[in-house]
Amino acid sequence: MSQTCDVVVLLSGTGSNLQALIDSTRTGDSPVRIAAVISNRADAYGLQRARDAGIDTRTLDHKAFEGREAFDAALIELIDAFNPKLVVLAGFMRILSAGFVRHYQGRLLNIHPSLLPKYKGLHTHQRALEAGDAEHGCSVHFVTEELDGGPLVVQAVIPVELHDSPQSLAQRVHVQEHLIYPMAVRWFAEGRLSLDDQGALLDGQLLAASGHLIRI
Ligand code: GAR
Repeated sequence: MSQTCDVVVLLSGTGSNLQALIDSTRTGDSPVRIAAVISNRADAYGLQRARDAGIDTRTLDHKAFEGREAFDAALIELIDAFNPKLVVLAGFMRILSAGFVRHYQGRLLNIHPSLLPKYKGLHTHQRALEAGDAEHGCSVHFVTEELDGGPLVVQAVIPVELHDSPQSLAQRVHVQEHLIYPMAVRWFAEGRLSLDDQGALLDGQLLAASGHLIRI
C-alpha cells in the first residue's frame, strides 16, 4: 500500500516503545508516519526521542485542567489538529474518559505489559511473579471504555525463569513490546487490522480472544 498512515503517539515516560516505532518507520517501505508525539509530562524522555527524530512534539499538562473531561477534550483538539488515522498509546499513564475513547473508536491502540486479561493496571511483572506464573508477556489491544479491556490484537508470551525479578522480567517483556507494537501499527497502517462489533479483525478474519499469539 503506497498511502501513508499518519499516527499520533501519546506517552508519559521513557518512550522506548516510541523509539521502536520510530526505528520501524525507517525501513523505507513503511506506510507509517509519526505526525506528532504528545505527552502530559514536559519532562518525559520520549519527547526528546521525538525531537531527535525530527517529529513534532506537544505537551499538555493534565494538572492545568479542572478534571478528566476538560483535559481529554483539550487533548482531542490537540490530536485532531494533526488529523491522524491512528492514535497510539505508548506508556501514556492516564485513564481516558469514555468520551475520548469513543471519539477514537477503532483507531486507538494500547500496549500493556501483561498477558491480558491478566493483570490489568500497574505492577504487572511483580504480580505475575507473586502468582507463580510460568508464562508472562505483553499485549497490544484496541482501546475501549473498559480499562485494559479492549479486543486483543497480538500477544507475545515469554517463559518466566526461576530467578526472575520484576526488573529482569520487565526487561525481557520490553524486548517483545518493541517487536509486537510496530508490527500491530504496521498492520493497521496497511489496512489489514480493524475493529468491528465482533472484535479485532486481521485480514478480514476475526482474531482469537488472545489476539495473534507469538510464543518465544
Ligand atoms: C510499557 O511497558 C508499556 O507496556 C506500559 O508502560 C511502559 C512504557 O514504556 N504501559 C502500561 O502500563 C499501560 N497500562 P516506554 O515509555 O519505555 O515505552
